Amino acid sequence: MTMNIVIIAGSNRKASTGTRLTEYAERLMKQAGHQVALFDLYRTPLPFYSPDESQAEHAGLKQLKQLMAATDAIVLASPEYHGSVSGVLKNALDHLGSEYFSGKPVLSVSSSGGAVGVSSLQHMQTIVRNLHGINCPEWISIGGAQRRFFEAGQDSYEVGQEIDDRIHRVLRSFLELAARLRGKGHSAAETTL
Ligand SMILES: Cc1cc2nc3c(=O)[nH]c(=O)nc-3n(C[C@H](O)[C@H](O)[C@H](O)COP(=O)(O)O)c2cc1C
Repeated sequence: MTMNIVIIAGSNRKASTGTRLTEYAERLMKQAGHQVALFDLYRTPLPFYSPDESQAEHAGLKQLKQLMAATDAIVLASPEYHGSVSGVLKNALDHLGSEYFSGKPVLSVSSSGGAVGVSSLQHMQTIVRNLHGINCPEWISIGGAQRRFFEAGQDSYEVGQEIDDRIHRVLRSFLELAARLRGKGHSAAETTL
């Protein structure tokens, strides 16, 4: 089953290891036959969310909303900043209501200075729950020395075996969840309580 997947790369750093990790994930999922769009918040900065302004004509926002409306599944990536998500990712999510997330599977990905970016991953999952998305039970974290595989200057995605195995395993489980959720779509009228 071909899936439409949107990845939001939530770093404002040109050489972001998290963004390179999402590029690697994009390549793997495309090789598996899926349609994947990577929305990089460094390349396409969004305006500060303001409830006072419509911002509907902003080209980058329009593009993100179009992609999000059509997607079956979502990947969110963030660097671990002060035990939480980046400001640019949070700002992007503030622009998006639950209509873009409701019932869709969401995979969280982080890059951290410490071994595992648990706080940013948990915070992403909290935001997803509040947007009525469905958190993938697995997540991907690169931290400490694992980040060197995704640093600038590496011509290829020379990933270590352990992290590569994890990325493959988590993406498989994410895509299986997406396929199950799409296959199970039914209207509220069909649900008997
Ligand atoms: C403002 C700021 C805050 C950070 N806070 C943390 C933190 O709380 N915990 C941690 O492990 N690393 C922290 N780091 C390190 C980043 O998580 C780490 O460098 C990460 O790999 C950055 O991701 P990127 O390569 O995608 O930019 C922080 C870095 C910056 C710039």
